[in-house]
Amino acid sequence: MPIIEVNNLTKVYTNLISRKQKRAVDNISFSVEQGQIFGFLGPNGSGKTTTIGMLLDIINRTSGDIRLFGDTHLNAARKRIGATLETPNFYPYLSGYDNLRIVAKIKNIGEARVQEILGIVKLADRQKDAFKAYSLGMKQRLSLASAMLSDPDIIILDEPANGLDPEGIREIREIIKALGREGKTVFLSSHLLDEVEQTCTHVAVIKNGKLVKQGSVQELTSRNIARLEADNTDMLRTAVRSYDGALSADVRDGAVFVALKGGNLSDLNRHLAGQGVYVSHLSEARQSLEEVFIELTS
Ligand SMILES: Nc1ncnc2c1ncn2[C@@H]1O[C@H](COP(=O)(O)OP(=O)(O)OP(=O)(O)O)[C@@H](O)[C@H]1O
Ligand SMILES: [Mg+2]
Repeated sequence: MPIIEVNNLTKVYTNLISRKQKRAVDNISFSVEQGQIFGFLGPNGSGKTTTIGMLLDIINRTSGDIRLFGDTHLNAARKRIGATLETPNFYPYLSGYDNLRIVAKIKNIGEARVQEILGIVKLADRQKDAFKAYSLGMKQRLSLASAMLSDPDIIILDEPANGLDPEGIREIREIIKALGREGKTVFLSSHLLDEVEQTCTHVAVIKNGKLVKQGSVQELTSRNIARLEADNTDMLRTAVRSYDGALSADVRDGAVFVALKGGNLSDLNRHLAGQGVYVSHLSEARQSLEEVFIELTS
């Protein structure tokens, strides 16, 4: 059972004065399984924050369904979710510790967990300093700490690494990966392709409110892509799909593009011949997530 399931989700904003409408999220569907680190990728203005707002029930959806833990009653599910929004919202003059204490008090969480979480996000030594004196990376980490405080099953993060330097990005990445190892489900939005490639297990790509691709990072970034041609493209695709080392096979421009998990081209070729399919063309085509993304969103 998917832990997050979204079906035909749509958000139309209407400007109250001009009555002009904006379809920010347009009929998207995706699902996230427990333990996945799911990256929601898209250019500026593509609808990432709007989607997250609807998942958190902060933004009213125009139509579509959302199920969290298999349940459409989002209110009940909310207790098992930790989230951060685009800009961390803390009291600037209070220390990181005091800010977390306020959140802990509201959620009935004890002192031991506050200290534990400060350790996890590496803010233990700076916990007494005022929030306003924190670097951007520290602010983002405090925001993560606040989302993780109640030990939620799902952690939803809107651009957790936005604006950070490589060291700051690396720190956030380590925390998110540790959550994945604990079996937590993480849903994060980002436009940092390299980061998503290194952190996430799965991604969905959104453009102008529409979902253009989803799959495992391995499948999408598979640097091992082969381009194949044969007299009968349909037969070729069927034969390719029966190959153990094939993650996916798509037909484009009269050729079959296959993402290979392992194996090699001659092994694939042998398999195809065994199926009675003889290729007229076989070559390697490499792609990174960045190339995939640009191809999908440009
Ligand atoms: N309250 C609102 N009223 C009208 N339009 C809005 C509102 N909020 C967002 N939009 C529009 O909806 C679209 C999607 O915005 P959204 O903030 O969800 O995108 P995003 O992918 O999070 O972008 P970014 O990468 O810049 O954070 C944009 O065109 C935006 O201008
Ligand atoms: Mg946004």
